[in-house]
Amino acid sequence: ESIDVLVFGSAIIDFICYTPRLPKPGETLHGSSFQTGYGGKGANQCVAAARQGSRTALVAKLGADSFGSDYLRQLAAEKVNVEHVQQLEGQTTGVAQIAVSEGGENNIIIVVGANNSLSSNDVTKAQSLFEKAKVLVCQLETPVSSTETALKTFRGISILNGAPAMENTPPGLLQLACIFCVNETEAALMTRMPSIDTVEEAKIAVEKLLHMGANTVIITLGKLGAVLGNTTMKLEDYQHVPAPRVAPEKVVDTTGAGDAFIGALAHNIARHPKGKLADLVAAACEVASQSVQLPGTQASFPRST
Ligand code: RIB
Ligand code: NA
Repeated sequence: ESIDVLVFGSAIIDFICYTPRLPKPGETLHGSSFQTGYGGKGANQCVAAARQGSRTALVAKLGADSFGSDYLRQLAAEKVNVEHVQQLEGQTTGVAQIAVSEGGENNIIIVVGANNSLSSNDVTKAQSLFEKAKVLVCQLETPVSSTETALKTFRGISILNGAPAMENTPPGLLQLACIFCVNETEAALMTRMPSIDTVEEAKIAVEKLLHMGANTVIITLGKLGAVLGNTTMKLEDYQHVPAPRVAPEKVVDTTGAGDAFIGALAHNIARHPKGKLADLVAAACEVASQSVQLPGTQASFPRST
């Protein structure tokens, strides 16, 4: 069978505490509720694409624990090809401790466990998937050297989500992907800008990331949408794609919104490889804006019918 979207990356179990506000250092807070969820940027992006209707495959590592077994069943239920999702003896499934405030803001600590064992060798083992997929998606929750191998091996359209951000991004990494995508916080960290709060600042960051080697850059800006540019464009030609307006009281959980965006973008590119990137980005913003209106990560990703 053919594959639209291949994801080489992370799978993590999310432990989510909902709280009135995010805690300060040293502070203990009463939260309002707790939920576990299926997360990890790689698996999230894969499931987001699958729910849009893409045929997807995931190359990832889980622990040989009950979390790993549950996750494998869940991915299969989402119709993801899991031939190359492996449970490793003696390792723990990655976990994320997530706090979500009433405004829908979050902070996250990840302990990636088995995800650290995703290796270049796994690219070789999954060669047949790499040969037939239309779009490859990678992130930075698994070892960078393996991600580099995956991107070098792939001949189709590749997307690197530079998340979580690395302050000292290895030179050469950005140029390996056709599209480099980060959010405003990650872009600020990578470009050493104090913050990115406006479309104009985002355009400056796009230019800096292109100078760092990227071919095409997309920076997502939450409710402001996204900005994109490539090496053939001048700064004044970079495009701003607005996001659909969501009333503030409807924003309940932004966790994984970036992953909903990337998964939907990968799906759109696989479907319309000749489409205008700004149009494909606009459609992906729509999917992300739906995800922020429901609690959870994958649990909040829309299904196209
Ligand atoms: O992008 C959101 C994801 O980041 C969560 O699902 C969590 O697992 C962390 O990896
Ligand atoms: Na959500």
